[in-house]
Amino acid sequence: MTESSAVAVILIGGYSKGTRFRPLSMDLPKPFFPVGGKPMIHHQLSALASLGTVKEVFLLGFYEEQTLKALVEKAAVQFEMKVTYLKEPAELGTAGGLVHFSDTLFKSNPKSLILLHGDIACSFPLKNLVEYHSNNNPKGITIMGTHVLKSDAHRFGCIVTEKQYASGKVLHYAEKPVSDVSNLINAGVYVIDPQLVKRFPDFKEYHKQISNVAIMDRPSYEISNDENRIRFERDVLSSLALLGAGDLWVYVLESESDFWRQCKSAASAIQCSQDYYSYYKQQKPELLATSAKNKCEIVGEVIIDPSAEVDPTARVGPGVYIAAGAKIGPGARVSHSIVLENVEVKSNAFIKYAIIGWNSSIGSWSRVEGMPNFTHRQPRDNEDKVTIFGSGVRTASEVYVRNSIVLPHKDLHENVKNRILL
Ligand code: GTP
Repeated sequence: MTESSAVAVILIGGYSKGTRFRPLSMDLPKPFFPVGGKPMIHHQLSALASLGTVKEVFLLGFYEEQTLKALVEKAAVQFEMKVTYLKEPAELGTAGGLVHFSDTLFKSNPKSLILLHGDIACSFPLKNLVEYHSNNNPKGITIMGTHVLKSDAHRFGCIVTEKQYASGKVLHYAEKPVSDVSNLINAGVYVIDPQLVKRFPDFKEYHKQISNVAIMDRPSYEISNDENRIRFERDVLSSLALLGAGDLWVYVLESESDFWRQCKSAASAIQCSQDYYSYYKQQKPELLATSAKNKCEIVGEVIIDPSAEVDPTARVGPGVYIAAGAKIGPGARVSHSIVLENVEVKSNAFIKYAIIGWNSSIGSWSRVEGMPNFTHRQPRDNEDKVTIFGSGVRTASEVYVRNSIVLPHKDLHENVKNRILL
């Protein structure tokens, strides 16, 4: 590896971070759940691969090695990059793993570290971000930032720059502030000078000390007592901004074609998928299904795996992913949904705003739907009511399931509304 190359780390968390993805995360670790027709972190890996300067990607998390082994090997082959999973001894926070594994991560003496959250959907303009970092802030940390609605901003890390609404030096960083700070937020993608990582424990110490004075973060979140746990946002970014040394910058996602959304819950996977479909429509239309190619009625943006079978009289879309081996029967209607591997949707069934788990079966004339409130831009778990089936759920014919979560291997013979079926 040359001195000018980069290493990348994708933070994938562990089982505790997958709880908002239940029941789907019971069968597949959340970072590998399909979003936009591909495993969630394949979008990050694809963007890193296309940079051409990243020869090694590390996934940092708290899943058992055995659970991820095959998935990681497959990704490495697909993207022709070295992909290594490093399991933290405990959940070390968003920066603790970087310190713990720094000898391994920086063995090749890379010029920069690209750090990405695994649970975001984004156009990942990494080339622009890396260039911006090299030109403006090569010895510091550059955050990728994006604007969100003012009403959503308090749920994120809020950034105040020298000149608000423009890229530049960060003056103030407040993680999940209680008052309005800024609607320019931390999008969970960074370029970092590797030399800074050894200073992270000092930043944490500094943050501990200054937490006693009034700052705009929530005091109850301020101090982490676990010695090895370091939170990148609160311990490192807040401290760097407060130290005011000028080595914290933000690159703002501003291009028309860029998008960003958090993907925390199963419901948000539907919204995030739609973002990717719309992006493909502009950038890679060949990935999308068409009525002519797929010989059924396609509405809007849809991805259908080549091994799925869709009856010519079925109507699919908008916003749908049909995975490998799924069968969509005559007269069926599917919109705004994710239909996973080997699902069978029988004749005239109707599916809308739903995720249908692996090997499930939907009876004839059944109706499975959610009623989310997707009017806001960033997902909100409690308002986004989509129907989710775990794996192997079967509905009889003419059953109506609305706004419900059904755990794996349930047989449904009656209508279900607003329930969690254990
Ligand atoms: P909420 O607090 O849930 O609103 O999330 P957040 O947006 O503040 O992000 P969070 O810090 O929980 O996670 C950001 C990313 O880091 C996600 O991809 C997580 O899976 C990952 N992550 C969180 N904690 C850890 C950790 O202890 N270790 C590792 N390796 N990854 C983590």
